[in-house]
Amino acid sequence: MTDTERPVTIVGNWKMYKTVKESLAYVKELLPLVQHATARVYLAVPFTSIKTLADFTKGKSIVIGAQNMHDASEGAFTGEIAGVMLKGAGAQFVILGHSERRRLFKETNQFINSKVKRAIADKLQPILCIGETLEEHQQGKTQEVLANQLKECLQGIESHQLDNLMISYEPVWAIGTDETATPEVAQAAHHFCRQFISQTWNEHLAKKVLIQYGGSVKPENAKELLDQPDVDGLLVGGASLSAETFSKIVNCNVGIDVLPHPN
Ligand code: PGA
Repeated sequence: MTDTERPVTIVGNWKMYKTVKESLAYVKELLPLVQHATARVYLAVPFTSIKTLADFTKGKSIVIGAQNMHDASEGAFTGEIAGVMLKGAGAQFVILGHSERRRLFKETNQFINSKVKRAIADKLQPILCIGETLEEHQQGKTQEVLANQLKECLQGIESHQLDNLMISYEPVWAIGTDETATPEVAQAAHHFCRQFISQTWNEHLAKKVLIQYGGSVKPENAKELLDQPDVDGLLVGGASLSAETFSKIVNCNVGIDVLPHPN
C-alpha cells in the first residue's frame, strides 16, 4: 500500500478476448492464485461475461467491471450499452477513455467527460485513462497532454463526486508494444497528475485519488513500477489474459510468485 488511503489496485483489461465459458474457467483458476493477495483485484471483462462473473465472484475477492459505456441513460443508440445496464448486470466499475477507444472509435475528451458524469450518476466507479502518444512524448508534451485530458475529461465535476475516481496513466506508446515506461518516467507523470489535481480541485482529493500505470506491464516489471510512491496500481492488458501470469502481477508486492492450488 502506497498510502493508508490508497489501496493497491491491479486491474486486468481483457479487451475483446474470452467467451463466457473461457471467462468462467479463467476466474476459477485465478481465485486460488490470488487468495493471499494484499492488492485489490479488478477484472474489466467483455459485456457478455459481466453477469456470469459478477454472480460467480459475489462475496469473493475479485471485482468485476466493464471496459466502456455510453453517456446516455438509454435511447436509440444501436449497439451501445448504458451504465445502468452494466450496474444491473453486476459491474462495479467501468474503464473510460481508453486510448483504443480514443484512437479507433474517435472518442473525444468531451464525450469521455460526459461518460464519467454518467458513470458517477449510475454509481459505477470510473477508471479514466489518459496518456500521450509517441509523437507527443518525443516532443516533450506529456505534461501538457495530461493536464488537458484531466481538465477536459473531468470538467464540471465537483471534488466530492470524484471520491471514487481512479486514473490510469497509459502512455499510448507503451500499450501492447512491449515498451514499458521506466519507473522514473511513470512516477514523474503520476506525480504531475496528482499535483494538477491538487491545484485544480484540492489536496485532499489529490492524496486520495488512485493513479495506476498501464502499458506493457508484466510480472518482470510490475514490482518496480508499484514501488514508486505515486503509482497506486496497474492496468494490465495482454498479461492479464493468462490467470497464472496475471496472478504473478497481483502477488508481486507480497513476494509470492505462484501459489499452489488448494487441492
Ligand atoms: P498492455 O495493455 O498491457 O497489453 O500494454 C494495457 C492497456 O491497454 O490497458
